[in-house]
Amino acid sequence: MKEKSSMRVLSGIQPSGDLHIGNYFGAIEQFQKKQSGGDELFIFVADWHSLTTIKNPADLKKNIRQIVAAYIAFGLDAQKTTLYRQSDIPEIQEISWILSCQASMGRLQNAHSYKDKLDKGINATVGLFTYPILMAADILCVQADVVPVGKDQKQHLEICQEIAQKFNSTYGQTFTIPKGEIPDSVAVIPGTDGQKMSKSYANTIDIFAPDKKLKKQVNSIVTSPISVGDPIDTATCNILKLFKMFAMPEEIAEMETKYREGAIGFGDAKKILLDKIHAKFDLARKDFNRLMEDEREIDRVLAVGKEKAGAVVRKTLRTIREKVGL
Ligand code: ADP
Ligand code: TRP
Repeated sequence: MKEKSSMRVLSGIQPSGDLHIGNYFGAIEQFQKKQSGGDELFIFVADWHSLTTIKNPADLKKNIRQIVAAYIAFGLDAQKTTLYRQSDIPEIQEISWILSCQASMGRLQNAHSYKDKLDKGINATVGLFTYPILMAADILCVQADVVPVGKDQKQHLEICQEIAQKFNSTYGQTFTIPKGEIPDSVAVIPGTDGQKMSKSYANTIDIFAPDKKLKKQVNSIVTSPISVGDPIDTATCNILKLFKMFAMPEEIAEMETKYREGAIGFGDAKKILLDKIHAKFDLARKDFNRLMEDEREIDRVLAVGKEKAGAVVRKTLRTIREKVGL
């Protein structure tokens, strides 16, 4: 089949807390690349999804603004990219319901996100259980071709593909089957303790943290005890793993040599990493802080996105209603 020249790309982030470096490399950087590649982008704030975890209304409101401010601060341009908030488009809920009538119960019961919570003894809600169906609605409501996400979302995407296929085979060709895009190089960014960086593990380095907190987070990266002048293992050092995300190949080679020769200690390696983080994010950090003070700018962007995304979603809903006989 002939590939379309411009792809429709969709992705979203839950407003469930402060954005960290894993979110940047796993999600936002990919959105930036797609936007500059000339694709048609739909990037949204998954605020309905975050109700599965955030129960404090003031936190939710602040988190939503943070995600929009981050999108803008990182250069997503509301003129080119449709930036919107999921809950601004209630038609997505109707699509979600129609899709839920195609979704397999067994498949959802086996989803990691749900099973992991059950295994930890957390009392799962129906919202958590049906989370992948709403995610499928997010994707299928704009007929997305490509969905860039981190590796942790792979199973959710497969569930979305299955639901779309099931709908198509029941009612005739309706949905584009979306493709996930999970670049290997950034599949899992490690946190300060070496396991996946995640809010849930309290091991994050937060992109927009005030200087002092950022420094504290970098300093909290766990290292194995060594004596001054000893070589450091380049394969296991958590500081080096993160440094690699920010440095050029020559800089990485130079740093690895220093590690092997015992010519650098963890304290200095952390300082260098912190400088790299500042160099990469300081412009966006400044813009983010300005935007967080400017409620109107965020509202304006969301109003434009609501119109643009709403029109596309309503068109899909008309087609689906027709297909199922509503
Ligand atoms: P968290 O695990 O901190 O709750 P989210 O689930 O809200 O993060 O993730 C938002 C986006 O960032 C998703 O696309 C996810 O794949 C990506 N992401 C989160 N953590 C990482 C990580 N450690 N490495 C790569 N991508 C990540
Ligand atoms: N589940 C995603 C996450 O936790 C957020 C999300 C919701 C999403 N709907 C989506 C991502 C649709 C991509 C496409 O990160």
